[in-house]
Amino acid sequence: MTDTQSAAGWQRNEAAAVSRDSSTAASAKADSRIRIAEHLNKYLCLDDFEAAARKKLPRMLYGYAASGTETDASIRQNRDSFKDYALVTRVLTSAIHRDPKCTLFGENHAAPFGIAPMGAAALFAYRGDVAMAEAAKAANIPMVLSGASFTAMEEVQRAAPGTWFQAYLPGHPDQIRRLLERVSAAGFKTLVITADVPVPGNREVDKQNGFNVPLKLTPRILWDGISHPSWLIGTAAQTVLRRGLPHLENYRAVRGPSVLARADIRGGGAVDRMGWPEIHLVRSLWKGKLVLKGILCAADAAQARECGVDGVIISNHGGRQLDGAVAPLHVLPAIKAAIPDLPVMLDGGVRRGTDVIKALALGADFVFVGRPFLYAASIGGTGGVARAIALMAEELKRNMSLVGISRMSELNAGFVMPIDAAMRRTWSERGGETAHRP
Ligand SMILES: Cc1cc2nc3c(=O)[nH]c(=O)nc-3n(C[C@H](O)[C@H](O)[C@H](O)COP(=O)(O)O)c2cc1C
Repeated sequence: MTDTQSAAGWQRNEAAAVSRDSSTAASAKADSRIRIAEHLNKYLCLDDFEAAARKKLPRMLYGYAASGTETDASIRQNRDSFKDYALVTRVLTSAIHRDPKCTLFGENHAAPFGIAPMGAAALFAYRGDVAMAEAAKAANIPMVLSGASFTAMEEVQRAAPGTWFQAYLPGHPDQIRRLLERVSAAGFKTLVITADVPVPGNREVDKQNGFNVPLKLTPRILWDGISHPSWLIGTAAQTVLRRGLPHLENYRAVRGPSVLARADIRGGGAVDRMGWPEIHLVRSLWKGKLVLKGILCAADAAQARECGVDGVIISNHGGRQLDGAVAPLHVLPAIKAAIPDLPVMLDGGVRRGTDVIKALALGADFVFVGRPFLYAASIGGTGGVARAIALMAEELKRNMSLVGISRMSELNAGFVMPIDAAMRRTWSERGGETAHRP
């Protein structure tokens, strides 16, 4: 038998194994409520959705999602940090019953990854927040609804019970109390407080593209929309005709202004003064699980623990706040060591099953993925997100087997090896991630 024949045979067996596995965990294919359109089969990994979204979306929207701040150093580092580690495999482990399921805050999930909170998702896809939440629910992974979203939290929770809510805290205790009352009444059980936005990041790409809230409908912005007809008809027109102008629905206890209305949504500097006392206050008011997002320092993780939070998300906001902020993966071991008894989650640059494995080997209990799911929603709505989740879950399961584990709990630091800068340079000079693609 030639190498080609054996490779083809292996691929057939592997494909069969993947489709068998897919029927049991995190598989959108297995959920009959979600239809994955045929055209979505051409997307083979999370990064594939970005190029298609770039074509479909107005420049200002794609720029808003894809960019970071200033020199984009943190976005690059987030991705590169995963290249700083190589996987050390174990062989002959009979790891055929790979199962990526995990338990977080007492809930079982089909895989140790979820969808990060992303504001303005309903501008990217018709009912974009619901699309992501429904696909996540069907695949049994968590999705976090952003506090800067344009779909009322009550609607999202009804469509996908179990969705988490992320809040940007208002600057006044009474406003905080009323917001938390609304989140609780809507049925959310897990609350994420984002801590890394004392002031908005310096988003030069948005300024360049004229993307701002309130949105000014200049000739340039209008042309940007008109010249992307499939978005204009499928998302913008449908949204305005069927649901009206998008409003900032969940920023505060009451509905906020529309995307076109001028209003001071941040409360005139009160948010900038926010500190640990507000986290203590939230802890005293919120009875559900409480997670602090945007932690990059072990001392802050320890302080969060003292406040009584149930978990932290290590994050630099996908490189959208402080340019040059350290990549979450690089501070993960120190943060896990500081709070070993709390779930430590991480986001930023996670794109592959192997990234999930590296993060868990270095101490993460769970990871979140942002941009690719937004792009997938913009391309295929709920089905697009379901396809993206299934791809990630399938990659993860295949890679578990190749690494030599059956369960995520078998991972430890012995499965990763730091790669020094010289070795990494040689690798990236050869073309890096996509060198194998013709
Ligand atoms: C378009 C967009 C909007 C975002 N909005 C929020 C938000 O409202 N709240 C928040 O905590 N994080 C927000 N984030 C950050 C994500 O939650 C997450 O930290 C980041 O996207 C992870 O990096 P990744 O996109 O490389 O996976 C946003 C990210 C993007 C790309």
